[in-house]
Amino acid sequence: MSLTDEQIKEAVREGYTRAVESRSSCCSSADAERVKQVAGLGYATEELENLPAAAVESSFGCGNPLAFTGVEKGDVVLDIGSGAGIDCLIAAEKVGPEGKVIGLDMTPAMIERARVNAREAGADNVEFRMGEADDMPVESDSVDWVISNCVINLAPDKGKVFREVARILKPGGRVSISDIVLGDDLPQEVVSNVDALVGCVAGAIKEGEYLEAMQQAGLVDVEVTERMVYGEKEIEGFLGECCQPDVEDGEGESSCCGSGKGEARDASGCCGSSGDAESSCCGSEKDEASGCCGSDGSGKSPEISAECIAQVAGKVWSARITGKKS
Ligand SMILES: C[S@@+](CC[C@H](N)C(=O)[O-])C[C@H]1O[C@@H](n2cnc3c(N)ncnc32)[C@H](O)[C@@H]1O
Repeated sequence: MSLTDEQIKEAVREGYTRAVESRSSCCSSADAERVKQVAGLGYATEELENLPAAAVESSFGCGNPLAFTGVEKGDVVLDIGSGAGIDCLIAAEKVGPEGKVIGLDMTPAMIERARVNAREAGADNVEFRMGEADDMPVESDSVDWVISNCVINLAPDKGKVFREVARILKPGGRVSISDIVLGDDLPQEVVSNVDALVGCVAGAIKEGEYLEAMQQAGLVDVEVTERMVYGEKEIEGFLGECCQPDVEDGEGESSCCGSGKGEARDASGCCGSSGDAESSCCGSEKDEASGCCGSDGSGKSPEISAECIAQVAGKVWSARITGKKS
């Protein structure tokens, strides 16, 4: 993809602004189907049912980075790319009032939504900071746990992100990340597609390179503890401009727009209210300066062919990756 790092960040910021705004307009409560979809990523149904509905509706993750971690009362947890706050709110329960959770995100609309969700949850041990993963507004040696859910694939300089992770962790501090990684190089048709970037596929790197980047940053005991390999249907879901596999709900609709009825993706892969030509990269012309809506300058993100999706199936997965600072 021939975008600068800043253009990549801007495309991601715009994509997730639209994504979170579409969730607010189409989905007023997390119904049982949505809870089921998100639970499918690795959450316990009960922990989702205890959260504000909007936090569940606006989940864009690809796993549950907190599952099986040893986060304890009193810990300080930092969530990179915290989105609307789902994992921060779950972490807030685990660390208790004597602990602290910091959610970091570079998209203002996400920070706003997360703050509202935290207020609604009554979680006053959570703070959301605006900032970028490769230059975190966080003190060195100050964090017990770094978690992240489907974010680092979106960062143009992953090595820099991991060096920041190593900087902010206390000695012995740990990392638990859910993220999209690859088993093989992607076809150029996918790599150069901005929707596929925002959808967490085009910016992903091979699993081995990911682990190596963590080790090069000084993290140790780096390993993959779980993998969820995606087939064609899930890959199509990712390409619908939200970072989540296309898990069918009871109506057979895409998860892209939550469970709101009538929000199925149209033929172009767009989602209901987020798919209008004014506001969405799925539609017609869009800000070329941001790089959003295609690298060909046509104002459109070209559709990825079914053949290409079939080629990619099985080579993209969500991995849970753990490590620590020595
Ligand atoms: C796929 S969403 C995941 C959100 C959240 N972790 C969740 O599970 O719902 C990606 C989030 O990461 C944020 N993000 C992407 N790149 C970032 C970066 N370089 N620095 C900070 N935040 C970033 C986006 O704004 C968005 O909120």
